[in-house]
Amino acid sequence: MSAFDVSLLPASATVDDSGRVAIAGVDLASLAERFGTPLYVYDEADIRARCRVYRSAFGEGVAYASKAFLCVAMARLVHEEGLHLDVATGGELYVALAAGFPPERIVFHGNNKSTAELRTALEAGVGRIAVDSTSELERLETLVRDGLPAPRVHIRVTPGVEAHTHEYIETGVEDSKFGFGLDSGEALAAVQRVVTGGVLRFAGVHCHIGSQVFRLDSFERAVDKMVGLVRAIEVEAGAAVEELNLGGGLGVRYLSDDESPTIEQYATAVHEAVGKALADAGVRSRPQLLTEPGRSIVAPAGITLYTIGTIKEIEGVRTYVAVDGGMSDNLRPVTYGARYETFLPARATADRPAIVTIAGKHCEQGDIVVRDARLPSGVAIGEVLATPVTGAYCHSMASNYNKVTRPAVVFVRDGSARLVVRRETDSDLVRLDADA
Ligand code: LLP
Repeated sequence: MSAFDVSLLPASATVDDSGRVAIAGVDLASLAERFGTPLYVYDEADIRARCRVYRSAFGEGVAYASKAFLCVAMARLVHEEGLHLDVATGGELYVALAAGFPPERIVFHGNNKSTAELRTALEAGVGRIAVDSTSELERLETLVRDGLPAPRVHIRVTPGVEAHTHEYIETGVEDSKFGFGLDSGEALAAVQRVVTGGVLRFAGVHCHIGSQVFRLDSFERAVDKMVGLVRAIEVEAGAAVEELNLGGGLGVRYLSDDESPTIEQYATAVHEAVGKALADAGVRSRPQLLTEPGRSIVAPAGITLYTIGTIKEIEGVRTYVAVDGGMSDNLRPVTYGARYETFLPARATADRPAIVTIAGKHCEQGDIVVRDARLPSGVAIGEVLATPVTGAYCHSMASNYNKVTRPAVVFVRDGSARLVVRRETDSDLVRLDADA
């Protein structure tokens, strides 16, 4: 029966006496009216505040992982907040450069970067390339021999650490498509190749154990393994490690019952672990610690607004409340079994006696936004319904499945709303068709 847990809303959220929710002073239901639904709404100050917490904990060593949510406005915000940017494809790189993001502050990731993508990155002067495979090393060496400037490289390492998260987003285990194995000696061999090859510039090592990670001890174990590698690099390759990049991965609270470490707790844990491991290993290198948060910067700042279109009560089975979006704007439930809370922005403080399932509008039974959601009684067609904590990996994984147009994105700040990505129109659905 209990009311919606408003602590899942972004920092600037307020709820008035009648239960209407506003973000940064802007009424959510009125945003739905003005911009239409589905709509991604971001609390801009909330994103900036998280950037600042990371900045104060890691100084210059923070790169925002753009795969979590990227558009021109977001890239500019990240730059204004003094963070670097992680891109994982030529497409993310394109958007970053189109936003005017300084190339030297970009880290380029990806397990299958093409020669064309690498060429673009080197020509643009991208600051760091996280090299993922031997064939990529070869491609880079060839480009440099052909006259492009030698990039600073990080060797991406698979540290063999379990992150205790969904297997699709667990990336640090040995059986992974990412990086060079640590235990197998491949990572050290890749570093040796860079150091002795004299073609590329060795800058450091990188690992990313997974995403939506709640357990700090998983990061601590990754630190131990990576510092072991730092020592091996000193002893066996005779090189100092300037940068130790621990990737991203800090989890966030999606549900009332979730407990996630804070950014500060995460920062303290990894700093202490690195300090201790370096001292224990007796290494000379004092690498700068880098981190690449995505989800923990944007997820809690975002809310998706939908309009309820159909309510179907199957006596004794289930009530489906269908909204005007679904797996095209949030692929996470169907992909990872991700769970979300939901609320009605016009009456968020009401008791919630009804248990219903929020379904999308796509032609799949699995297109469920929230299974067994709690809602107030008397939910009606036409009401606006919201899912909180949808700021990460929703817009960025959105599709046109069933030719549903992708939603607009709005940033709210200081009482006003600004459209940062326009809604697709039906004509966008045929804009690439050669025969249209
Ligand atoms: N750095 C690297 C190299 C990564 O691969 C990732 C995420 C990050 C940083 C950022 O991780 P975060 O701080 O956001 O956890 N689509 C999935 C998440 C995939 C994450 C992929 N890599 C989801 O919706 O849960």
